[in-house]
Amino acid sequence: MSRAVVFDQTGTPDVLHLVEEPETDPGPGQPRVRLEAAGINRLDLMMRAGAFPRPFRLPHARIGCEGAGVVEAVGSDVTDVAVGDPVIIAAVPAMDLDGTYAEHTVVPATSLVPRPAGLDAVRAAALWVSYSTAYGALVEKAGMRPGDHVLITAASSTVGLAAIQVANQLGAIPLAATRTAAKRDRLLAAGAAAVLVAEEEDVASAARAATDGRGADIILDCVMGPGLAELATAARFGGTLVTAGWLDPRPATMPTNAPLTIHRYMSFEHTLDPIVVRRMAASLGAGLRTGAIAPAVDRTFALDDVVEAHRYVEEGAAFGKVVLTM
Ligand SMILES: NC(=O)c1ccc[n+]([C@@H]2O[C@H](COP(=O)([O-])OP(=O)(O)OC[C@H]3O[C@@H](n4cnc5c(N)ncnc54)[C@H](OP(=O)(O)O)[C@@H]3O)[C@@H](O)[C@H]2O)c1
Repeated sequence: MSRAVVFDQTGTPDVLHLVEEPETDPGPGQPRVRLEAAGINRLDLMMRAGAFPRPFRLPHARIGCEGAGVVEAVGSDVTDVAVGDPVIIAAVPAMDLDGTYAEHTVVPATSLVPRPAGLDAVRAAALWVSYSTAYGALVEKAGMRPGDHVLITAASSTVGLAAIQVANQLGAIPLAATRTAAKRDRLLAAGAAAVLVAEEEDVASAARAATDGRGADIILDCVMGPGLAELATAARFGGTLVTAGWLDPRPATMPTNAPLTIHRYMSFEHTLDPIVVRRMAASLGAGLRTGAIAPAVDRTFALDDVVEAHRYVEEGAAFGKVVLTM
C-alpha cells in the first residue's frame, strides 16, 4: 500500500488529505518511482484553489508536479532508466492522476532526468520546476548572453532565485526586483548585482539607472498584472520581455511604447521536449558541480503536514522552495 495526498473539491488548504491505496503497476514505457521528496509549486496552489488553467478529475485528484526518488519498478519498453536509479521527476503530464505528493507515482520514462551525484532528494525536489523555468525563459526563449542585464521581478520567488543563479552562471548581470526591503540582503547574498525595491523607488527608472540609462536587455517577469506596461519601459530599445508567472491575477496591460520582443513562457513547452530537457539537465548539472547552481530550500514538511505546508507557501514568507518529505 502507498500513501498519496488527494482532494475531492477545490478550496483552502484543508481540502487536502491523505489516502492509502494499492501501488500502481507501471505500464509500457513507464517506471514507478518511490518518492523521497516533492517540491511545492504555485501551480499546485492554483490547482487546489480551483484556478488551474485546464480541467482535471474531481473528486480524488492527486497533486504535485515535481519530485525526487528512486526507480522501484519498470514496465516493458523502458530502456533509459533501471530499478534503483536515483531520479528527478521533471514533468507530470496528468497531475490529478499521478501527482508527486505521494509515496509512489508512475510517469512516462521521458519525464525523468537522472539525479545528479551528490544532490540529496530534498534539494533535487527543489530543482527542476524553478530552474527549468528560469533556464528555459532566459536561455532558450530570450537568448541570454554574457554581459546582458537581466531584470527579474518577484526575484525572491523560487523562479526568481533560480534566474539569479542561471544569469550569474552564464555571465549575465541579474537585477533583482522585490516589493519590500525585507529580502534585500538575502537577494544580494543570493547573487543579485543590484536589488530594486518597489516600495522605495520606481523599479523601471531604477533599472534604467543601473544600466547607465540603456535599459535591461531582458526582463523576466513573474508578476504581470496592470504594472506590466510600466515595467516594460525598463527594457532597452529592442530588448526582450518574457512573462512566466501570474503572481498578480489582475488583467495585464500590454506594453506598446517601444520595440520589444515579448514571449509568454510555460516551461511545459520545454520539459516535454527531450532534446531541450537534455540541454537543461547538462547546464544545471554543470552549475551544480561548480556551485553556481544551488537550489535554496526554505523549509521541509512531512507529507502528513501538507495542509500546513500549503498554508505556509500561501503566506509568501518563504525564501526558497518548500519541500514535502515522505
Ligand atoms: N511559466 C512557467 O512554466 C512557470 C513555472 C513555475 C512557476 N511559474 C510562476 O512563476 C511565479 C513564481 O512562482 P514561485 O513558485 O517561484 O513563487 P513563490 O516562490 O511562491 O514566490 C513568492 C514571492 O513572489 C513575490 N510575490 C508574491 N506575490 C506577488 C505579487 N502580487 N506581486 C509581486 N510579487 C509577488 C514575493 O516576493 P517579494 O515579497 O520579495 O516581492 C513572494 O515572496 C508564479 O506565478 C508561478 O505560477 C511559472
